[in-house]
Amino acid sequence: MNQREAFKRAADTIRERANLQPTIGLVLGSGLGGLADELEHRTVVPYSEIPGWPQSTVQGHQGNLVIGELEGQVVAAQQGRAHFYEGYSLAQVTFPIRVMKELGIGTVILTNAAGGINPAYEVGDLMLLEDHISMPGMVGANPLMGPNDDELGERFLGVAQAYDRRLRRCALEVAREHGVPLHSGVYFGLSGPAFETPAEIRMIRILGGDTVGMSTVHEVLVARHGGMRVMACSGVTNVAIDAVDSDLETNHLEVLEAAEIIVPRLTTILKGVLLNFPT
Ligand code: HPA
Repeated sequence: MNQREAFKRAADTIRERANLQPTIGLVLGSGLGGLADELEHRTVVPYSEIPGWPQSTVQGHQGNLVIGELEGQVVAAQQGRAHFYEGYSLAQVTFPIRVMKELGIGTVILTNAAGGINPAYEVGDLMLLEDHISMPGMVGANPLMGPNDDELGERFLGVAQAYDRRLRRCALEVAREHGVPLHSGVYFGLSGPAFETPAEIRMIRILGGDTVGMSTVHEVLVARHGGMRVMACSGVTNVAIDAVDSDLETNHLEVLEAAEIIVPRLTTILKGVLLNFPT
């Protein structure tokens, strides 16, 4: 079976289960899966029942595709994602994005738990991605490497406008209306799974990263390759440690705990964007 047949087989399996036709895809990062509970008339499809779909092995990722309605839009929400550090290939990590496209979805909204690099950011803050730096992509781990399938997208992808301007404007407007603090900045994508050393944090700050995390950038590249509109938002779950001998250490538990503060804020932004969706 070629790649495209695999995407189609997964999409057909999902279509057999859900009566609704989603137009917006949502990817919910570490600890953020609870957002899918907001969907009405929902169908839950466990990743294990979708052929080819990668399982997340990480705590805080429920592993379901939830299709339902939110603010008048039909959404397909991924509760958790697979990461490169789990040993998946980038083709596997981005398989769900290709399936979303195959399902007829035109917009993908990605979320992630991230470390705060910008000194102005605090735990619980949200940051809208206006751009990213893909460290793996720059050193040879780009999901678009390999033979290009012209049916899926073009060989040389322009990414100067990866993060949809109108969706960003809409999110900022919603944030202002509801009094939710929302930064705009640059997400620095790394492979993980180790968190960063203080020297790496200082390097990331010099290079222009505002948040740091282990996901999202590959999915954005594939979504743009497929011609989908993209919006993405980081939830700051911890403040990156930039000095040695600080007695602090980053851990996954604090990431999950902070996610609980982030979910209601993210829900407000997301609902507002869906309600005022710029077509
Ligand atoms: N670094 C990388 N990934 C992360 C972090 C971090 O500090 N927090 C949540 N995901």
